Amino acid sequence: MLNLKIIIASTRPGRKGPAIASWFYDIAVKHPEFNVELVDLAKINLPFLDEPEHPRFQRYQHQHTKDWSGLINAADAFVVVTSEYNYGYPATIKNALDFLSKEWAYKPMAFVSYGGVSGGTRAVQMLKGVITALSMMPLSEAVHIPAFTKHIDESGKFNGEPGLDKSADVVLNELYRWAVALKTMRS
Ligand SMILES: Cc1cc2nc3c(=O)[nH]c(=O)nc-3n(C[C@H](O)[C@H](O)[C@H](O)COP(=O)(O)O)c2cc1C
Repeated sequence: MLNLKIIIASTRPGRKGPAIASWFYDIAVKHPEFNVELVDLAKINLPFLDEPEHPRFQRYQHQHTKDWSGLINAADAFVVVTSEYNYGYPATIKNALDFLSKEWAYKPMAFVSYGGVSGGTRAVQMLKGVITALSMMPLSEAVHIPAFTKHIDESGKFNGEPGLDKSADVVLNELYRWAVALKTMRS
């Protein structure tokens, strides 16, 4: 079994990210090869990067960095569930990435994005460039959800549809292939 972390990027009060992440999580846990964990950046609650040294040295001074390092180190694959803010990614996910270095390296990352007409695609394109600097593998397979609010019901639950559910399966299967391949690079 490989460890998949589903990271919720948005942290603002009233955010919709957890509803979409919960939909994806319910599909991901059915994948036979992944141990799945939801990682909510609002709960992780990292401050703005406050480590004096470059993370590649892993000489962390703060307990919150050591905890974050341990969590990401234990992962074999990631899915980032992200909104799009002003045509880019939320600052919270960039900050969470910047905190660490080797812990991310040679691991695949896929994206579930949501927004208006763009479906969050601009945020994802920007994130792909960032994660290559960390020696990560960005997947081209993704779930992009335009006009996402139409899928959220009165109870706040995000309801998929056959096309979206299929995309999620495609992402998970491809992520698994990359996760197996890249694990050999880390051994
Ligand atoms: C600061 C801010 C900037 C936004 N910019 C965009 C944008 O560039 N593109 C887009 O599709 N939606 C944009 N939106 C609308 C978001 O898609 C919508 O608010 C969504 O719920 C944000 O995700 P969250 O609820 O998980 O924070 C923006 C929302 C906020 C709060």
